[in-house]
Amino acid sequence: MKIANLIAPLAAMTLLAACGSEQELRDRSAEPMVDGESIYATEEGRDTHSYANPLEARVTHVSLDLNADFEERRMVGTATLDLVLAEDAEEVVLDSKGLEIREVVNGEGEALRWEMGEDSGDVHGAPLTIALDGAEQVKITYASAPGAAALQWLEPEQTEGGEEPFLFSQGQAILNRSWIPTQDSPGIRQTWDARITAPEGIRVVMSAEMLTPEGELIDDQPGRRAFRFRMDEPIAPYLIAIAAGDLAFQELGDRSGVYAEPSMLAAAASEFEDIEEMITAAEQLYGEYRWGRYDLLVLPSAFPFGGMENPRLTFVTPTILAGDKSLVSLVAHELAHSWSGNLVTNATWNDFWLNEGFTVYFENRIMEAVYGREQAEMLADLGWADMMADIEALGGLESPDTRLHLDLEGRNPDDGMTDIAYEKGAVFLRTIEETVGRARFDAWLRDYFDRNAFRPQTSAGLIADMRANLFEGDEADEIGIEQWIYEPGLPENAVHVQSNRFRAVDHAIQNFAESGEVTVINWPEWTTQERLRFLNGLPREMDEDRLTALEETFALNVARNSEIRFAWLRLAIANRYDDARDSVERFLLSMGRRKFVAPLFEALMAAGDWGQPFARRIYREARPRYHAITTGTVDETVPLSDG
Ligand code: BES
Ligand code: ZN
Repeated sequence: MKIANLIAPLAAMTLLAACGSEQELRDRSAEPMVDGESIYATEEGRDTHSYANPLEARVTHVSLDLNADFEERRMVGTATLDLVLAEDAEEVVLDSKGLEIREVVNGEGEALRWEMGEDSGDVHGAPLTIALDGAEQVKITYASAPGAAALQWLEPEQTEGGEEPFLFSQGQAILNRSWIPTQDSPGIRQTWDARITAPEGIRVVMSAEMLTPEGELIDDQPGRRAFRFRMDEPIAPYLIAIAAGDLAFQELGDRSGVYAEPSMLAAAASEFEDIEEMITAAEQLYGEYRWGRYDLLVLPSAFPFGGMENPRLTFVTPTILAGDKSLVSLVAHELAHSWSGNLVTNATWNDFWLNEGFTVYFENRIMEAVYGREQAEMLADLGWADMMADIEALGGLESPDTRLHLDLEGRNPDDGMTDIAYEKGAVFLRTIEETVGRARFDAWLRDYFDRNAFRPQTSAGLIADMRANLFEGDEADEIGIEQWIYEPGLPENAVHVQSNRFRAVDHAIQNFAESGEVTVINWPEWTTQERLRFLNGLPREMDEDRLTALEETFALNVARNSEIRFAWLRLAIANRYDDARDSVERFLLSMGRRKFVAPLFEALMAAGDWGQPFARRIYREARPRYHAITTGTVDETVPLSDG
């Protein structure tokens, strides 16, 4: 059974009609093909983290009509799916995690047989199989579970304003199946639209064109408003995102702006004032921004990630509002995903590095263009240190988890969220850039995004593309691209971008470690990146006098910059430094960003009697405020059951 049989003539016709590849690529039913074969039938294109059967029936459009029920913490309503079917298709298989299915009908409203398979008991969820009887559209009436992993429902007290509740979603990697019944696989692109209702006073935003910015009154539901959205570009389903709360908006440029709670809006707008410049720089590097608007949404502090590249609406943590734009490389990162990730998407989570490695590389190029080479070099050098630390943590250079292309079958795709994908991936691209020269590399990358726009990609596909369009002679083998992608460790030709400014910092580290004299530290003149290099480069064992000297001179316990605060507290905990305890507690209760929370709890648990009871006490209080993504990690570190 092959959809290919059906599509090939169709695609050829479209090509003739539109006289160009753009239309063909965007055609809703265009199946991603590799050498005449469906990508879903290829070894690297088969997604083991989805129950979907795209070779038989494939979702091409999702239409949501949902009520956000803040009391019951459920999304309730319907999802209508458009399908393309292979000739002899019998059923469509969707992904579901905890969905309560009430009814399934076809386009004519006639009931269809459906069955919910057994839940895997872990992140995979259960297959929802619908017998089609020829139906090319199915309408599912359903509700999400109150504990849906993709959704976090916040009480008013968990927001800045404290007046209204808040809801946000996080779809990546395979969480959207907990609130949307669709084929939840990154290689199965879908256009979508939505109508969402919420109580008066709440604004709903989504990662799509917003058709009703202020919402519309609803005749038969007084006290509620409806918001409508539309995404006409086919996107990977993990990129459907929603947030709802007391949100205000401020324009930043012609095609950009920021949403935040009213009390944070001004701070957010000034932190992100360079966004237009970043978009322009990105376009000059690698081609037109294809999504229309680029807005940012600042979430409440419970948001578990730093940022999430939801199309047209990047979600960010408020912990990057440092007041001095020093952490905006995160915005450059999420913006870069508008090409790497959102246009060209990893076909499966085994190739997560195709999203993140390319994005870290691209992010750094945006930073270089907007803030200069020195700044970019510091960021790249910090990334190198993160990568080295992660290689160690993963078990060293031999560990299979240090491969770029992974085999995550049967595992949580989040296991692949390491600095291997991010930083080793970026170092690989820098190594290629240095070999072929920046001009050739940039020209290739720009065309690569165009050629593969709105398509899934695999490591094998990348290699074929590079061999055909980038390399000359035996460059590919000289670099050893297969070794880079499929073997563990770090090849010897890895390009380490080293910051000159860090030499002075490293000097200060040595001087201070020897003398304990804070006067050798040029802190006031340092950028945030130099300060981070300093704190992370200090010996992990420090005496109390030195820690006190640092704290008293640089007020580290109350550092407003979250990255500085985190780096300091990590060091302080490792040394069981009593004067940092209050700061640790306040920090852990103030936000739920996993990148900060998880390592600090780990450090506390590693600090014996000094840290363990303290960790348990804080976690007991903080846990209800954290997102499931964060508690999922911290639960492993801080067991609460034994008291
Ligand atoms: N797409 C990721 C976030 C993500 C990855 C969520 C995998 C779920 C599963 C996002 O672009 C990202 O990488 N965020 C980073 C910040 C970035 C600057 C490295 C984060 O949140 O820490
Ligand atoms: Zn990313």
